[in-house]
Amino acid sequence: MESAARGLCQGKFEDIRIHDVSRVHLSYLIRDIWKYKAIIFASPTYDAHLFPPMAHLLHMLDLKGLKNRIAGIIGTYGWSGGGLKYIREFVEKNNWELLEPIVEANFTPNEEDLQKCYELGLNCSQNLLMR
Ligand SMILES: Cc1cc2nc3c(=O)[nH]c(=O)nc-3n(C[C@H](O)[C@H](O)[C@H](O)COP(=O)(O)O)c2cc1C
Repeated sequence: MESAARGLCQGKFEDIRIHDVSRVHLSYLIRDIWKYKAIIFASPTYDAHLFPPMAHLLHMLDLKGLKNRIAGIIGTYGWSGGGLKYIREFVEKNNWELLEPIVEANFTPNEEDLQKCYELGLNCSQNLLMR
């Protein structure tokens, strides 16, 4: 997330919030997602699905049916993968605009993965500033 945030700042977009879904109450997460136009989701794969607090957040967002958002996706996995596709399904189901690149890292992100996260942040800021 820090690399994506650096990309956003480099693109001159500095009104950024970073939340850890395992530590921040759902009400604060939803409040900020409601307020902001672009959201970058990052989650590890957990039992061939998403990290549970992230799965819960997406379920709650699904119920709210928020429209007109831009989304980036960063996913990590250890062996089978699988988490990322649930974020993608959520984004597509809700007709949110999907930003490139979609980043998928095996275990801890390496330099190349972090560069892609940076590009994702940069693309996100350029997209936002064109509106
Ligand atoms: C409880 C648990 C379940 C996991 N389940 C999966 C899984 O089903 N498939 C998979 O590819 N990786 C799985 N992983 C691996 C994590 O996705 C991987 O450790 C994480 O994406 C990378 O973060 P790390 O480098 O901090 O461990 C699991 C990890 C834990 C702790």
